[in-house]
Amino acid sequence: MKRLAPSILSADFSQLGQDVKMIEEAGAHLVHVDVMDGHFVPNITIGPLVMKSLQGKTSLPFDVHLMISDPDKYYADFVTPQTEFICVHAEACTHLHRTIQAIKAEGVKAGVSLNPATPISAIEYVLEDVDMVLVMSVNPGFGGQKFIPQTLRKVKELDAIRKERGLDFVIEIDGGVGLANMKEVCDAGVDIAVAGSAVFGAEDVNARVKELIALMG
Ligand code: DX5
Ligand code: ZN
Repeated sequence: MKRLAPSILSADFSQLGQDVKMIEEAGAHLVHVDVMDGHFVPNITIGPLVMKSLQGKTSLPFDVHLMISDPDKYYADFVTPQTEFICVHAEACTHLHRTIQAIKAEGVKAGVSLNPATPISAIEYVLEDVDMVLVMSVNPGFGGQKFIPQTLRKVKELDAIRKERGLDFVIEIDGGVGLANMKEVCDAGVDIAVAGSAVFGAEDVNARVKELIALMG
């Protein structure tokens, strides 16, 4: 089943608890948590305390996207009983294989993310180890940016690789996904679609979540 992961980056931080409840009631599948450090990306967002404050406000699993330098120092702070994925950027890891093993040793699923300009070859030798590959379809740092079309090719290539090699990592896409391209990205092989502004920027968030899920197939 394909899953929708609304990004709380575009939610109203003054009422985050209500916002996550709202997407849960609408049928969303995961809460996408965008962690930015002002170093790996030019923006600062939320940390583990904010994420942990959502425990009990929603029963949706957390999908943690670490856009930070030196994630080895911080990933453990995001491990909770509700954490399904912790995803690090290939560009931020000197010893990517080691970091992936360390995350999995915490009992959560490990993901690796690629910036739009990073080729699949950067993760060639960890594809056997990861539970998720997150294809960035915008340059990380901000919500509400325009989808970079050639990243769809990356999704298709990853989908072909996993079929060819019998691997079972899921493919997630993140950035600029909305009503106009949801069907196309899912048809290309995406299993989990992140949507920030397309969800929380809608007048009727509940209806928008349902519309997006309907397009996922
Ligand atoms: C971008 C973040 C995304 C972002 C998506 O750096 O990783 O998760 O919030 O927002 P939209 O869907 O508005 O592009
Ligand atoms: Zn993200």
